[in-house]
Amino acid sequence: MRAGVTIAIGVGWLCSGGPAGATESPEASFGRICGTCHGAQPVPRAMSQDAMAELTPEHIFRTISEGRMAIYAISLGSERQRSLAEWVSKVEWGSAPTPETETLVRCERPEPLDPRAASGPRWSGWSPDLDNTRFQPADLAGLEAADLAGLELRWAFGFPGATTAGVQPAVFGGRLFVGGSAGGVYALDAETGCAHWKFETEGPVRATPVVAPGAEGGAPVVYAVDRAGWAYALDAETGAPRWKGPQDAHPRAAITASPVLHAGTLYLVLASTEKAFSASPDYDCCTFRGSVVALDAASGERRWKTYLVGEPGVVRTGDDGKRVYGPSGVGSWSAATLDPEAGALYVTTGNGYTPPAPETSDAVVALDMETGAIRWTYQAEPDDAWTLACITPGANPAVVAECGPDLDFGSSVILRELGGGRRVLLAGQKSGVMHAIDPDREGAVVWTKRLSPGGVLGGIEWGFAAEPDRVFVPISDVWENQNTPGHAGGVYSLRIRDGATLWQTPAPAPDCLDTPGCSAGQPQAATLLPGVLFSGSMDGHMRAYDPESGAVIWDVDTKRSYETVNGIPAHGGSIKGGGVTVVDGWVYFASGYGLWGMPGNVLLAFGPSEAAPRPERMRVY
Ligand code: HEC
Repeated sequence: MRAGVTIAIGVGWLCSGGPAGATESPEASFGRICGTCHGAQPVPRAMSQDAMAELTPEHIFRTISEGRMAIYAISLGSERQRSLAEWVSKVEWGSAPTPETETLVRCERPEPLDPRAASGPRWSGWSPDLDNTRFQPADLAGLEAADLAGLELRWAFGFPGATTAGVQPAVFGGRLFVGGSAGGVYALDAETGCAHWKFETEGPVRATPVVAPGAEGGAPVVYAVDRAGWAYALDAETGAPRWKGPQDAHPRAAITASPVLHAGTLYLVLASTEKAFSASPDYDCCTFRGSVVALDAASGERRWKTYLVGEPGVVRTGDDGKRVYGPSGVGSWSAATLDPEAGALYVTTGNGYTPPAPETSDAVVALDMETGAIRWTYQAEPDDAWTLACITPGANPAVVAECGPDLDFGSSVILRELGGGRRVLLAGQKSGVMHAIDPDREGAVVWTKRLSPGGVLGGIEWGFAAEPDRVFVPISDVWENQNTPGHAGGVYSLRIRDGATLWQTPAPAPDCLDTPGCSAGQPQAATLLPGVLFSGSMDGHMRAYDPESGAVIWDVDTKRSYETVNGIPAHGGSIKGGGVTVVDGWVYFASGYGLWGMPGNVLLAFGPSEAAPRPERMRVY
């Protein structure tokens, strides 16, 4: 392992001998089975035991009986799984709100969706444009730097049974469409947070939905995806499904990236949670294959599907007879960038799971929009096969034989014009390196620049934002620098033409270092508007920067409790994941990230002060 991560892990299930008797206490079961990964020093992406105490027993039970952790708890049987869930949660069964028992606080006088919404203030999908710049133009944002001081918290919404928020809402026609990290898609009123509807999904929803006008005067359509690997088209007015379906046959397939819609085709990328299963001695690692899918948006029918990795075969048999399959992996975690001019789409990929890692891993891959054929590949990191087994002591030696550094691309590429007919793709890697490559010369390097030490949790993690000439890049470095917090986080402004640094603002010293999960890292995707750059931090602060100077011009500490419109107890924590949505003078974002940060479950809506309403602005319909 080259990643330089050192994790102290106590005695765990891998070295604890035979199965425990039926009298084993939940505490002992946790120490024996779960503590390896969820103990005092949790492995990356696993939450600590303390953070897990905020989950409902029902959620934990579901996770260990039929969900992602079932493989570890299978020997316990259902009764002891339930006691373990209750013990971990420290809450009695049935006493906390769960997604299943949640009652929506419905809007009293539900206004129909504004039919002119498609030309009004809105944010749909990962970025307002197909270039994935995450730049919201002035007429849609309705917010300038001078308005920041007047922003007030207007409402908060609590996600039931969740310890991670991390989602970015879409806003369309005065409604906000947002996924729940415990599952479901909500349609809320953008100004009050009351609910229009909730649609139940197969898995948790992390990606920002895409909202599009309906065909021939029909209701607008919400396209959503979930971590069970399903895609959905929902009537934006009612939440009724138009079509839905799984997008991959693998049981661990997941979709975490926003879909992208263009000219009647919906483009999806597939990732998986198989990485997390690899550490179990009972799991035949690994068979998932990353892919890109194009669907007919009206019917959900598949136009094409391109796998980014070949068919896995047995590559190795361990001393214990366990077989290792490869190649595998190459999931894609972030939204495709569309280039209709060249008829291409660009996706960024993660590492392979098992060797040999193909040349499409840790890469930018260009595909033909019509056929899905791969046109070219720019690989940033060769031979990077990595799963969680690589950092789990005692894991199957056959699985960890050739671990790479885990240097995925976690964010979408941004497409920009350089002038003189030249164009560039900006690809930010978890290694901390920004790559500028030429889409019209098969990914030839224009420049590369290292911005930070990088590592398993980024470097450049969720995303960055760009204007025509400048790109703004927040830095994570959470895991690598957790013991030297002054070194994590910060924001860079680079000149796109040559990568020159225009300014760099280090992260402010965190005010919560005694709280587990607090750090100065800034993994959240940045959002840009004219005169304002938003970047959230693992210390729970949301900050706005002046894009000219890098000065912090607005700062809100979100790590506190909130009264919520839906009555669900909620609080903020670390900010990570999808970024800020700015529409019509309002600022929306989520706070709380239990997977190794400070947990929280709140969606916050800041708007112009209610006491001093703005004069009615001209809307740009
Ligand atoms: C080999 C390491 C490992 C072991 C052992 C393990 N977990 Fe996990 N667990 C993880 C990782 C990694 C994740 C995050 C998975 C992801 O993001 O896909 C996770 C996720 C979870 C979650 C989901 C949190 C959420 O977002 O809803 C729960 C609950 C959980 N584990 C409970 C347990 C319990 C209880 C045990 C013991 C029976 C256990 N885990 C054993 C590594 C482990």
